[in-house]
Amino acid sequence: MTSLTNRIAVVTGATSGIGAATAGALTAEGARVAAFGRREDRLKDLDALPIAVDVQDRDAVHAAADRVRAELGRPDLVVANAGVMLGAPFEEADPAEWDAMIGTNVTGLLHTARAFVDDLLAAAAEGRPADLVLVGSVGGHQTFVNYGVYCATKAAVAHLTRNLRAELGPRGVRVKNVEPGMVSTELGDGMRDTSVRDSLNQWRAGLETLRSEDIAAGIAWAAAAPARMNVAEMIIVPTTQG
Ligand SMILES: NC(=O)c1ccc[n+]([C@@H]2O[C@H](COP(=O)([O-])OP(=O)(O)OC[C@H]3O[C@@H](n4cnc5c(N)ncnc54)[C@H](OP(=O)(O)O)[C@@H]3O)[C@@H](O)[C@H]2O)c1
Repeated sequence: MTSLTNRIAVVTGATSGIGAATAGALTAEGARVAAFGRREDRLKDLDALPIAVDVQDRDAVHAAADRVRAELGRPDLVVANAGVMLGAPFEEADPAEWDAMIGTNVTGLLHTARAFVDDLLAAAAEGRPADLVLVGSVGGHQTFVNYGVYCATKAAVAHLTRNLRAELGPRGVRVKNVEPGMVSTELGDGMRDTSVRDSLNQWRAGLETLRSEDIAAGIAWAAAAPARMNVAEMIIVPTTQG
């Protein structure tokens, strides 16, 4: 028996970085995991039920949730992790990039939470642990020049977490906000603004960044806590990020 035996989990954004590591960590701890992401080829590398889905598409997310219930059962651990970060000076930003960040980091996360909330409430009503893990960022409470819209999406995640905690906590669902600092992943690779992308890479090279597995370990640990205990807010930063 490992700490998450008998748990059924869903991880969005599981094709790379923190999501892929989290799917691996939850599987290693005994959970059965459904992995969501758009790049289907990458999902197949995981030891998980692969489901190709764009979280911005509400109907597709609900169809994916039906597949999870049919093939694995009702999830009791949902990690809404899919996200994009497209930095640019505000006056030069392409509003389509704002749409992508808001559509994925906020609306996509809402579609995910909504698609599984009844499953989480049902698990909690049976006295079992039930977790809704929302992946935010330290950008949700710190300022980063050229990343205003990204940070605003993560501030939305932080305040949504607090509100859903108030709403769902009394019914036994543990809503959590995990806020990573600098983690070396593919995040930002798709940035159109090359100077902002270059400074991100320099910034990452200038300190010992975290590994995706570090965040995944935090999520797996929090999910394995007794049902009475909610690790509601978890800030995990590289030591030298300060
Ligand atoms: N890396 C950091 O320093 C850091 C710091 C703070 C917070 N975070 C947050 O951590 C989360 C994971 O990021 P990461 O660093 O692991 O970056 P990443 O390696 O780029 O992973 C992002 C994941 O999100 C998925 N995704 C993006 N748009 C999607 C969509 N519309 N539908 C479904 N999946 C989508 C991507 O998969 P597909 O492209 O295959 O769909 C990918 O699996 C994000 O929410 C990010 O904001 C990261």
